[in-house]
Amino acid sequence: MSILSKHSKLERNATLLLIASLAVVTVGGLVEIAPLFYLQNTVEKVDGMRPYSPLELAGRDIYIREGCYTCHSQQIRPFRDEVERYGHYSLAAESMYDHPFQWGSKRTGPDLARVGDRYSNEWHVQHLIEPRSVVPESVMPRYGFLKDRDLQIRNFETHLIANRRVGVPYTDEMIENAVADLRAQADPDADTSGLEERYPKVKLGDFDGNPNRLTEMDALVAYLQMLGTLVDFTSYDEPANLR
Ligand code: HEC
Repeated sequence: MSILSKHSKLERNATLLLIASLAVVTVGGLVEIAPLFYLQNTVEKVDGMRPYSPLELAGRDIYIREGCYTCHSQQIRPFRDEVERYGHYSLAAESMYDHPFQWGSKRTGPDLARVGDRYSNEWHVQHLIEPRSVVPESVMPRYGFLKDRDLQIRNFETHLIANRRVGVPYTDEMIENAVADLRAQADPDADTSGLEERYPKVKLGDFDGNPNRLTEMDALVAYLQMLGTLVDFTSYDEPANLR
């Protein structure tokens, strides 16, 4: 009997096929999962990652609420075309404080994992108000209304507490100062020394072009400007197979 006719026997017997499929899936699953038990840590150690500042966290909420992830990924794969376009491929550590993560599964627009510092605040605001005024062929919707909506900050500490419960290392001091830090980050006249100490590399100033008002636009732009700017890649030891 040739191997092919043996296989047709398998295909015609439901019980046999089920048993054989289970065996194959079991072996495949073990090969994928077993190595993970021997790794010390699946999240690499890098310098620079910190919990999101309260304003960035608020901006992240708006990003999720508005469904930006339906068109944008935040995950640069270790392929040459992606790395040349977007920058260093994403590390697991870069989304370790994301609950839920924003890797996304669709790129109608570009990946945003390293969009921070790529454009000015003014560009972001203009682009969110009318994407076609800066990128004529854009199909991105308008989000100008964010500039007219006050940011909701009542009981903002609870937001940090919730994140701490799922493992984000917010300290008591960060939680106590949550509302003050949130306001200070977008206020050009505020004393930001405490904020900067708690959240290194935090971007300061008025984000939406209206210093008199703290809006959802302020929060969203603060979040976008932080993306991909935290990890210090000079201290990152790249695995040999990806070099
Ligand atoms: C319907 C799909 C869609 C949605 C939803 C969407 N975008 Fe976009 N976005 C695009 C497309 C397409 C582009 C590329 C053209 C352009 O720059 O406008 C883009 C570009 C961008 C860029 C510029 C990226 C770069 O590297 O040039 C940013 C920043 C951005 N979007 C942010 C957002 C944010 C924040 C939201 C949610 C508030 C959002 N987008 C929602 C489709 C979308």
